[in-house]
Amino acid sequence: GPTRRLPPATGSLLVTNIGELVTNVAGTGEGGPLGLRRNAAVLVEDGQVAWVGPARDAPAADRRIDADGAAVLPGFVDSHAHLVFAGDRAAEFAARMAGQPYTGGGIRTTVGATRAAPDDELRATVARLRGEALRQGTTTIEIKSGYGLTVADEARSLRIAAEFTEDTTFLGAHVVPAEYADRPDDYVGMVCGPMLAAAAPYARWIDVFCERGAFDVDHARAILACGQAVGLGVRVHANQLGPGPGVQLGVELGAASVDHCTHLSDADVDALASTTTDWVSGPETTTVATLLPGAEFSTRSPYPDARRLLDAGVTVALATDCNPGSSYTSSMPFCVALAVREMRMTPAEAVWAATAGGARALRRDDVGVLRPGARADLIVLDAPSHLHLAYRPGVPLIRQVLHNGVMP
Ligand code: NIG
Ligand code: FE
Repeated sequence: GPTRRLPPATGSLLVTNIGELVTNVAGTGEGGPLGLRRNAAVLVEDGQVAWVGPARDAPAADRRIDADGAAVLPGFVDSHAHLVFAGDRAAEFAARMAGQPYTGGGIRTTVGATRAAPDDELRATVARLRGEALRQGTTTIEIKSGYGLTVADEARSLRIAAEFTEDTTFLGAHVVPAEYADRPDDYVGMVCGPMLAAAAPYARWIDVFCERGAFDVDHARAILACGQAVGLGVRVHANQLGPGPGVQLGVELGAASVDHCTHLSDADVDALASTTTDWVSGPETTTVATLLPGAEFSTRSPYPDARRLLDAGVTVALATDCNPGSSYTSSMPFCVALAVREMRMTPAEAVWAATAGGARALRRDDVGVLRPGARADLIVLDAPSHLHLAYRPGVPLIRQVLHNGVMP
């Protein structure tokens, strides 16, 4: 806050000559949700933002990064990713592009490959994808389990995920695995009992795929309530493949986020809008709608209508859904470009949703924003403005990344 002391000159880093700084501090600089500032500088110390202001007023620092007039943004917050898996499903993708629909049935293929893989192979895959994401500007990532679906395989998936992020999510209720196909009640009992007990020590969140062909609303409610009872926060895969009760279940349970939101009724939109707060003080209670355009891209499905949600006052986030089936991209810039072109978001709305929106979806106030006290996670673009992320799709525009104040 404003009383924070000015940092001493040791161990400090000044990012200066920033042509356009996206702070996401609403009402500062040029106003608007992005809180844009021109000719700005950011002082970093001890892994945190220590000062933000005009470049000409910047304090001295030990080291400097000259942004040379480029745009600087908070690092992307990817609030939805499934990185713990083995194998890929390129042939399934090819079949879809030849006309096959996506059903989620391929999840069991990845479950088989994941169960058979040694820990080190899973760890290497997470490291590879985490590195890929970081090079594209993602400094915070949520990582789900959900391709183990046994007590031991869910626990080890989360143990490995926790080596890479604080935002780990237990998705034991991804699908009913083949060995439980004729007794889903037994599987739900197992998820709520021994599997949750083994997973919870490594998890911050619990998630359920609430969809026809996965878990119905009663099973989903029971599983999410068990997770809540042991202190996990709630998120839901909802309304991806068709209309359904998932979004309203999430709102009912105070979920931090309901994800996909591709097929929404007016009542779903109203329920989400009713949760919106400004989050100026007090605990966050908003249920964010997290849109995952990589999934619609890779399943050749109609995109969710972000405009309808934004116009109703719903808080929207963008995330990759990175997984080997429905969305094998780790690129937040790609998702921003899709959201602008295909989902009726403005570039400013999409950039906010990919940074501050993701932070809201993870109920974090230390990331997705550049203000004193925030984590020093920022990206320098090879471009003068955030607009270029959508304006120059597919171009590697991330010149430099700072994560916890250091270049990874
Ligand atoms: O979010 N919808 C459920 N789960 C993933 C897809 C998983 C897969 O196809 O392997 C998703 O899209
Ligand atoms: Fe997902």
